[in-house]
Amino acid sequence: MNGVNDSPIGGPTPTEPPDPRDRSRFDGLPPLLPHVPLEPMRFNPGVPPEAAARAFFGVMDRRRTVRTFSDRPVSRETIEWCVRTAGTAPSGAHKQPWRFVCVSNPALKTKIRAAAEAEEREFYERRASRQWLEDLAPLGTDPNKPFLEVAPWLIVVFQMVKTDPPPGSPAGTPGGMVYYREESVGIAVGMLLAAIHHAGLVALTHTPSPMGFLREVLGRPEHERAFVVIPVGYPSEGCQVPDLKRKSLGEIAVFRE
Ligand SMILES: Cc1cc2nc3c(=O)[nH]c(=O)nc-3n(C[C@H](O)[C@H](O)[C@H](O)COP(=O)(O)O)c2cc1C
Repeated sequence: MNGVNDSPIGGPTPTEPPDPRDRSRFDGLPPLLPHVPLEPMRFNPGVPPEAAARAFFGVMDRRRTVRTFSDRPVSRETIEWCVRTAGTAPSGAHKQPWRFVCVSNPALKTKIRAAAEAEEREFYERRASRQWLEDLAPLGTDPNKPFLEVAPWLIVVFQMVKTDPPPGSPAGTPGGMVYYREESVGIAVGMLLAAIHHAGLVALTHTPSPMGFLREVLGRPEHERAFVVIPVGYPSEGCQVPDLKRKSLGEIAVFRE
């Protein structure tokens, strides 16, 4: 049996799968968007994909999480370009369920540090399991988070559990659905970190636990949930990082050719 014509009575059988081109399920729903030709990255025969991919690995392999920052300023424009890059991420049903709250205001940074350190003291003294502390010990992290004040920018990433209600709608109007928001925001954060690194800056992926205080401190609405705090800036003079080893290709990839 390989299709309609193999049916013993000549027509489609009741178990025939629906025609994937049949859009009748979309009747009455928003129309298909206009489609435009893809503008691909031009393949450059002088730099074949192997060489391009290898060169990009060379750049990204030098990204490191930094925990001691310089207070040297970073322009708002730089942060804006990095956030625009994050905003190019794919997302479930193109809902773009992210908000990047970019903080350079010293008073706000001080508030964030105070609240984060209070949570982190609880975490290190009580909430963290022995196993978790064992895994953190080699990295040398502790409840003190001076980088939250020293780094010129904190990008606080929120995931949106609903889309924004339409502009001008009355207070309390619910937003729309979002899909795969954790996956979508995670991908966007990865792209943000790549953009920061590409700009010659450093970042820390910081997850004070729990993060509920960030919505309050930053005055964000109910449908935004803090996801991660990313201090961004230049490294401190003589900055050191743990001498970590990354898994090899053989450990992270499986090929079935
Ligand atoms: C989701 C996530 C949460 C993290 N949370 C923290 C954190 O709260 N504090 C911290 O110092 N590092 C944090 N890190 C950084 C990791 O410790 C770091 O990425 C890891 O040790 C590997 O180092 P590298 O980024 O230099 O390769 C986090 C990283 C990720 C991806």
